[in-house]
Amino acid sequence: MLSKTKIAELSNVQTPFYYYDMDLLDQTLNSVKKESDAYGYKVHYAVKANANDRILKTIKEKGLGADCVSGYEVKKALEIGFDPRGVVFAGVGKADWEINLGLDNEIACFNVESIPELEIIDELARKKGTVANVALRINPNVNANTHHYITTGLEENKFGINQWDLEKVIDRLSELTSVRLQGLHFHIGSQITDLTSYKELCLRVNEIQKWLLGRRIFPEVINVGGGLGIDYQNPDGNPMPDFQAFFKLFNDILELKPGQELHFELGRSLVAQCGTLLTKILYVKDGVQTKFAIVDAGMNDLIRPALYQAFHKVENLTSDGAFSKYDVVGPICESSDCFGKAVLLPETKRGDLFAIRSTGAYGEVMASQYNLRQIPQAYYSDEF
Ligand code: LLP
Repeated sequence: MLSKTKIAELSNVQTPFYYYDMDLLDQTLNSVKKESDAYGYKVHYAVKANANDRILKTIKEKGLGADCVSGYEVKKALEIGFDPRGVVFAGVGKADWEINLGLDNEIACFNVESIPELEIIDELARKKGTVANVALRINPNVNANTHHYITTGLEENKFGINQWDLEKVIDRLSELTSVRLQGLHFHIGSQITDLTSYKELCLRVNEIQKWLLGRRIFPEVINVGGGLGIDYQNPDGNPMPDFQAFFKLFNDILELKPGQELHFELGRSLVAQCGTLLTKILYVKDGVQTKFAIVDAGMNDLIRPALYQAFHKVENLTSDGAFSKYDVVGPICESSDCFGKAVLLPETKRGDLFAIRSTGAYGEVMASQYNLRQIPQAYYSDEF
């Protein structure tokens, strides 16, 4: 929550912009570290959630690894100073240059999603006279009970190797000499708030492990991906997810073999709540059933509501008038450029400052220049 003086200061800044609460980021990182360290689990930060330099540096300094999904993310993580031995690289469509980049920098592991990909990694590694560590991304067919665009662990999704193909993949792997099976990788989806989906994942991992051990295959690392959700409705009441309950569930249910490591790839749960998109009201316009509060941020600055019908709490920081309902819309020429319908807000007028909350994950990083608008600036609470 922002103080009155801070709001007055922020009101003088050119909007729209992202504002990051670095104290909250720090507390969140301390919490995830403490709770995962308790079981010796390793967390890789999913760079895709927010690749802002300051955020990445802060995360790196806490000793987390990096989970990357493009060569550009691998490059960025290395530039920021993440240890290559803590960098994992996932994605269904890795280009040759991206694989070569990972090989040249001796990253920890490639999360592999198909036999053709495995064969190319093997070929490229052989050319370099090296051996690539790989983890097989297995599609566990577990429903994450989240938005269908961010559900990834069902058989119908493009991700991972389906279980019935595992035998074939294992056979092919035994013929390839420049790839080495390091582990198994899973990721069932994002914004998962019902922990029973993770319980199902753990049970599925246990079954797969039994099957593999029957074939004398012993993965050193089990990587269960990311996806832990946050409370978009009540960011002040729940500024941090319950990492303790999350890791405990894995400790209780997932049967790790002696010497095996458990890894995670958390993105949203680490950075979402520390970010706020600040925007000013340009105009208030009467509609047929409602009033429109037209703000200067658009779907190019924050695409989640338009793309996933995602909810973000909207607050008027500078009014304490009587409440009524507003559709909060942006200036872009698309009807989906809407941050909230019938939002209960104090009386709003031109120049008021709005906060669009919980936008630290998949906010700034998904911003575009649509309509030739500019990518929004970012400011940090410890600098300003
Ligand atoms: N690992 C893999 C392999 C992933 O694909 C993802 C996210 C993560 C980890 C991190 O998931 P997280 O902990 O952040 O849920 N743009 C969407 C979310 C897309 C997530 C894609 N994969 C949104 O704004 O909701």
